[in-house]
Amino acid sequence: MQASPGRAQWTSTGGFVLATLGAAIGLGNIWRFSYVTGENGGGAFLVVYFGAVLAVGIPLLLGEFAIGRDTRREAASAFRHLARHGLWRHAGILGVAASFAILTYYAVISGWALKYFAGFVTLAYPLPQGEAPKAFEAFIAAPFEPTVWHAVVLAAAVAIVAGGVEQGIERACKVLMPLLVAVVVLLALYSLTLPNASAGLRYLFVPDWSVLERPQVYLAALGQAFFSLGLAMGVLVTYGSYLPSHIRLPQAAVAIALGDTLFAVVASIVIFPAVFSFGMSPAQGPGLAFVVLPEIFVRMTGGAIVGFAFFGLLVIAALTSLMALLEVCVAYLVERWNVTRARAIALVAGAGFALGVPSSLGFGAWSGVRIAGLPILDAVDFAASNVLLPLSGLAIALFLGWHWRKEDALDAVGVRSPVLANVWCLAVRYVAPAMIAIVLLRSVGVF
Ligand code: TRP
Repeated sequence: MQASPGRAQWTSTGGFVLATLGAAIGLGNIWRFSYVTGENGGGAFLVVYFGAVLAVGIPLLLGEFAIGRDTRREAASAFRHLARHGLWRHAGILGVAASFAILTYYAVISGWALKYFAGFVTLAYPLPQGEAPKAFEAFIAAPFEPTVWHAVVLAAAVAIVAGGVEQGIERACKVLMPLLVAVVVLLALYSLTLPNASAGLRYLFVPDWSVLERPQVYLAALGQAFFSLGLAMGVLVTYGSYLPSHIRLPQAAVAIALGDTLFAVVASIVIFPAVFSFGMSPAQGPGLAFVVLPEIFVRMTGGAIVGFAFFGLLVIAALTSLMALLEVCVAYLVERWNVTRARAIALVAGAGFALGVPSSLGFGAWSGVRIAGLPILDAVDFAASNVLLPLSGLAIALFLGWHWRKEDALDAVGVRSPVLANVWCLAVRYVAPAMIAIVLLRSVGVF
C-alpha cells in the first residue's frame, strides 16, 4: 500500500531503531526496573524477565511493527483498517488510551527527575547526609514547585515533537540516545570500582531460585516487560507506520528488545553495586532513585558529578519516552479526526498536563484523596498498567494470532524461515494470550 502523500517517514533504519529505543528506554528502565528487581529478589527475577521478553515481548513487538507498517496508519486507525468486523476494529484505541493515561503521570515523574538534575547542576545537591528522604517528601508535597518542573519537561518534549517525526523526534534521538548509552556505561564502570561492588553484582546475577515460588514474580516480570518495551500502547504500531517498506522488521524488533533489556541491566549495574556498597537495602520501592541514590551520592567520592550524570541520564531517558507518548496521541488526533498537527499537539499536551496535575497534587495538597487506597498517581498507573495494558495486549495478541489472516500476517511480519514463522504464530496465538490473561485476571483480583 502506498503511504499517503506527505506522511512522515523515518530517514533511515538507524533513525527508526534509535527513535524506538528512545521510546522504549525510559524511566521504566532505570527507576522502575531497578526497584521492581529489588522488590522481587534480584537474579531470579532477571531470568524470568528475559523469559517474558523472549516469549511475549519480541513476538508482540514484531506483530505491532507489522500492523503499523502494513497499514501506514497510527494505532487506532490501523486496527480499524485491518479488522474485518466487530470489536476488532476498536482494538487499537485501548493502546492510545493507555499511552495518554501514562503520559499524564509520566510527565510528573519526569519533572521530579528534571528538578534533581537541576539541583546537581546548580550544586545545591547532593544535600547533607540524612536529608534526602525528608527533602524528597517536602519537594513532592510542595504546592507549586513540582507543577513547574512538570510543565517545563512537558514543554521540552512538545518543542521536539512540534518539529515533526524526522526533524523533531528522529533528529533528537540520534543525538540523545548515543549520549545516553555513553553515560550509562561510564556510570556502570564507576559503580563497579566501589568497595564491595561485588555484593551488588551477586544480588543481581546470582539467582536465588526460591523467589520463583512467588506468583507475584511472574506478574511483575510480564508487567515490567510490557511497560519497558512499550507493548500494547500504540507506540510500536505508530512508529512502525513511519517505516519505509524495505526495512526488515525481525532484525529491528530483536535489536530493540535486546537493546532495551541490556540498557536496563546496565542501569542496574549502576544502581545495585552502589546500593550494596553503601549498605542500603535494594527493596525500597519507588523511592530507590530519588531517596536512596541521593543519600549515596553525598557519601560517594565524586558523588556530585555522579549525581549530575545519573539524573541527566534519567531526564534524557524520560524525555525521549515522553516524545513517543505525545506522538501516539497526536498521530491519533491527526489521522483519525483530521485535526491539524499543531492543534493536536496543543490539545494533547494541554489536556495531558491538566490531567497530570492531580497526580502531582496527590502527594501534597490532595494527599487525602485516595483511590482504592492508593495515591492518585499510583491509582492512574494501576489503571493504565494493570488494566488497560493487559486488555490492550490481549486484544492485540488475539488479533495477530486469530483474526489477521495467517498468510497476510506472516507476509507483513516478514519472518522468512518457516520454523521461526511457526514459533511466532505459536507465541501470538497461545503463549502471549495465556500469559496476559493470567496477569489480567490476577490484577483485577479474580485469583
Ligand atoms: N517504555 C517507557 C519506559 O520504559 C515507558 C512507556 C510506557 C512508554 N508506555 C509507553 C513510552 C508508550 C512511549 C510510549 O519508561
